[in-house]
Amino acid sequence: MALVSGIVWLGIAAAVAAWAILARTTGAIGERKGYHPRAFLVLGLLTGPVGLIAAILIGPAAHPVPVRGARAHGELLRLPRAKLLHEVLPRHDDVSGPIVEIDDIHLSFAGVKAIDGVTFSVRNSEIFAVIGPNGAGKTSIFNCISGVYHPQQGAIRFMGHDLIGMRPDRIADLGVARTFQNIELFPQMTVLDNLMLGRHQHVRYGTFSAMLRAGRASREEARNRAVVEGIIEFLEIQKFRKSYVAMLPYGIQKRIELGRALAMEPRLLLLDEPVAGMNLEETEDMARFITDIKRELQIGIVLVEHDMRMVMDLADHVLALDFGKPIALGLPAEIQSNPDVVRAYLGEEHAIADEGATA
Ligand SMILES: Nc1ncnc2c1ncn2[C@@H]1O[C@H](COP(=O)(O)OP(=O)(O)OP(=O)(O)O)[C@@H](O)[C@H]1O
Ligand SMILES: [Mg+2]
Repeated sequence: MALVSGIVWLGIAAAVAAWAILARTTGAIGERKGYHPRAFLVLGLLTGPVGLIAAILIGPAAHPVPVRGARAHGELLRLPRAKLLHEVLPRHDDVSGPIVEIDDIHLSFAGVKAIDGVTFSVRNSEIFAVIGPNGAGKTSIFNCISGVYHPQQGAIRFMGHDLIGMRPDRIADLGVARTFQNIELFPQMTVLDNLMLGRHQHVRYGTFSAMLRAGRASREEARNRAVVEGIIEFLEIQKFRKSYVAMLPYGIQKRIELGRALAMEPRLLLLDEPVAGMNLEETEDMARFITDIKRELQIGIVLVEHDMRMVMDLADHVLALDFGKPIALGLPAEIQSNPDVVRAYLGEEHAIADEGATA
């Protein structure tokens, strides 16, 4: 669009300039000899490409592209055009089988059975939800997948790797990223810097080339920056990019944590209560981001959430736990009507919904 309008305006400017020059230098001769229209045409053809080249060179700068979301805040930022996520992050549609397989894992803490025989698998382009009452073992499962806890029994395979006993940073390198139930960002740093930290395992150059800003270092830095800027646009947090995280509302901090996980280019994304404490609008925004991530990147997503409306809307499959034990696994509609799940967990929620309806 910028290019087309650049050509049009510069073409007009070139034609006016040509007409002015022609009128001054050849006006009388042109009229007498009758080649005035032809000279005009020749000049037009000569100046056309100039307009095109100039439009290519200055077009984007002359026509700043409004960034998605920025208008609502009365800003017109000179940032690149709003991007789709798959323009800056790789799409993962190359694995047809499960990307992660959890096989009969058990985890105890001094007699407390946090996880008691849990088995499930997640595929690409799947949102797999884990639900259950407080203390059911949901976060413990995330801690086992990401290498923070080591189950005493069972296996966890991710893209052909056995994760049990592997260090958390190695597991992150393989492509497992997560958000936390209680936000874990660097509050005294800016949004941009927090997101850039998510790129640290994609930094492959050494200190020497970083100091010299030599070829590879500067290319990688530019790519990391482009990924982070793309994520900022995707999550519609442009106006917070230079803000300190500690100063931002809770809902925005949750979004930034999702952004940092995305910056790691995950193949498996673990989201621990991404909408806890959010209002309805913030919840809907987050639900939209999660479905867009699934659609655009086609990665596997494990969602732990107490917001049942969100779980039932988004999840492809749901696992319900109680005291570390799996009590049901199936499609959202099956889980919602499963008597064991209703008794152990959903009953409470239903009672609250009924009270709300009669209030
Ligand atoms: N590091 C730990 N040390 C001792 N006990 C732990 C530890 N981590 C978890 N537990 C216990 O394991 C059980 C499962 O905890 P977990 O945090 O996984 O539950 P959850 O399903 O995530 O609950 P919530 O919905 O409240 O977040 C709880 O009884 C908890 O107290
Ligand atoms: Mg938890």
